[in-house]
Amino acid sequence: MKTVVIISGSGSNLQALIDRAPELGIEITGVISNRADAFGLQRAQRANIPTALVDHKEFETRESFDAALSETIDGMQAELIILAGFMRILTAEFTRRYEGRMLNIHPSLLPKYRGLNTHQRALDADDKWHGATVHFVTAELDSGANIIRAPIEISSLDNAETLAARIHGTEHQIYPLAVRWFAEGRLKLQQGSACLDGTPLPAEGYQYHD
Ligand code: GRF
Repeated sequence: MKTVVIISGSGSNLQALIDRAPELGIEITGVISNRADAFGLQRAQRANIPTALVDHKEFETRESFDAALSETIDGMQAELIILAGFMRILTAEFTRRYEGRMLNIHPSLLPKYRGLNTHQRALDADDKWHGATVHFVTAELDSGANIIRAPIEISSLDNAETLAARIHGTEHQIYPLAVRWFAEGRLKLQQGSACLDGTPLPAEGYQYHD
């Protein structure tokens, strides 16, 4: 399945997909970044994957940036669009265009802690559990149907950096899994719910454990 990955930074989730693409049933036809210095662009180039820069600073409005992004995605013949550490808010029009075939990964147990600084917020709230969520993208930020949620237990030794590192490790397991399900035609967005093999997943998503 032709897949485009959109990033803003390091791209370790992108790397997890590059490393396993054949086994997952995807061909990454392009990687798009809104930042020229995103290390993920180098990861893509190393793997001989075409890259594109759509720099948000060159656009006056969110709408014109999203229109340029759409054009770039469609030029790469994307069937599946993967947001992997992409740090821009998308317009409703853009998200509607790719509804049901655009996924995101977020470093919290959604619906808890949408937005930024999730690790520190979980620590400040004295949460016992934190984690990562793969979900379908809809117009409202970090709010589309959950697909997979991976909980990790917070220890008294954790700080925001250790949590970020532990969660990254888990993300590299659950994002490829969701992508494989999608590429196999097993995962669909139906009436607002993520369905696996024709059955709606629970609202929190499939619970992943190591
Ligand atoms: C991940 O923690 C992801 O959940 C969040 O941004 C981070 C991206 O990391 N959306 P990387 O660029 O894939 O290393």
